[in-house]
Amino acid sequence: MSRLVVVSNRLADPRKPAAGGLAVALGDTLSRTGGLWFGWSGVVSEHCQPGECQLQTRQAGRVTLATVDLAAEDHAAYYQGYSNSVLWPVFHYRLDLADMHGAYLDGYRRVNRMFAAKLLPLLQDDDIIWVHDYHLIPLAAELRSLGCRQRIGFFLHIPVPPPLLLAALPQHEWLMRAFFAYDLVGLQSEADVAHFRRYMINEAGAEDLGDGRLAAFSRELRVGAFPIGIDVQEFERLGRASEAVQTCEALRAEYARRQLLLGIDRLDYSKGIPQRVRAFRQLLEKYPENRHSATLIMIASPSRDDVMAYTDLRQELEGLCGAINGDYGDLDWMPLRYIHRIVARRRVPGLCRAARVGLVTPLRDGMNLVAKEYVVSQDPADPGVLVLSRFAGAAEQLKDALLVNPYDRESMADAIQTALHMPLEERQQRHARLLTHTREHDVHWWRRSFLQALQGHEANDPSTLFTPSPPPGGEPG
Ligand code: G6P
Repeated sequence: MSRLVVVSNRLADPRKPAAGGLAVALGDTLSRTGGLWFGWSGVVSEHCQPGECQLQTRQAGRVTLATVDLAAEDHAAYYQGYSNSVLWPVFHYRLDLADMHGAYLDGYRRVNRMFAAKLLPLLQDDDIIWVHDYHLIPLAAELRSLGCRQRIGFFLHIPVPPPLLLAALPQHEWLMRAFFAYDLVGLQSEADVAHFRRYMINEAGAEDLGDGRLAAFSRELRVGAFPIGIDVQEFERLGRASEAVQTCEALRAEYARRQLLLGIDRLDYSKGIPQRVRAFRQLLEKYPENRHSATLIMIASPSRDDVMAYTDLRQELEGLCGAINGDYGDLDWMPLRYIHRIVARRRVPGLCRAARVGLVTPLRDGMNLVAKEYVVSQDPADPGVLVLSRFAGAAEQLKDALLVNPYDRESMADAIQTALHMPLEERQQRHARLLTHTREHDVHWWRRSFLQALQGHEANDPSTLFTPSPPPGGEPG
């Protein structure tokens, strides 16, 4: 059987709990299959030059972790710069927040080239390579230019915007061409697949071969939707453990006379957190019976706080939260509890179970696994209600949630009111259907369907090695 090689910017010891969707999903996947996990160590080092840091390897159970530090200049240009100040905002439809700084691209390319050079000697002939997320789009092109012939799949965890937004990226032709060095590209939703295909056909002149296959640059690429899931069994096990049970009981006792609403996010502008606070304020204004009762717990864990747009968001949010508590709070009730810290993963199922309403209302999101964790945490006999943004990838699957438009404060307040007062029978019916879907499409289903598609894909003729084009203005590749 082929060995699985996973490559992602962020990685974590799969035996320890991790704090983010991607690291958790990949940890769950690899602890099942074993294999090699390659990526950034998370360390910014003063001891190496840009593009020249050393490889370190260590064993974590059946998984070999192979990591490379980043020099400060590379961290600034590749991670904070091109990945998180250019690709992240553009792919989340936020051209207004993109900082198209020329030097970022050089760093992005340099780190991808360094990763390719460090990874290549670790590869075996029949490895299956699975690359993850926007930090590493050109990795396969760099590997191919070094002679790598193994099958390489790519999964993008974030959304794909419509072609015209992609075309606003100064180097979009170079970036999008790099996808053709892969054999299979997996996206989160059918909407993402439609945007990707339209870009490739209209802007890159790709030929549509049908059945999800595209041809261009003497290569053939398959693209499809593979919506990521959670490890349902593992999450249920976490939900039965003492810390989750105690968290739930403590909250239920403390809020016995109240109705709890819950939001758990990274503090990111794509998550629609200020919009959610405004909708909650509107709820208290329009439906005063919720005053002294509805309490919103909002956990927004710190994220990328050295990127400017994130600092601005934090300030905006602190102002909004202070204002709502000041205007509506009373001696015995505060409408909102805002927590800007990571909450231990062990407590998450308990928090979710205690909440009558789960608010997952991003402005744009690849999938959003918190929506699925909320569903799995509920007591099927008396479940809470998931209020879900129609702009989260999860909305294509979780159709029995209350779907909302996070830009429309009034209608979101109405949806929260509906959720708070939904009769038991309707809550049970919706929850049962959501749970069935989440169980059937868990993280193992996701891994199996992607890897089967990659293995079953008729590989490109290895003699047609992909030649990466140089980025405009960059040195020849
Ligand atoms: C999103 C991205 C992941 C990223 C995670 C945490 O889920 O899709 O690739 O790892 O956010 O962000 P960070 O910048 O801390 O890795």
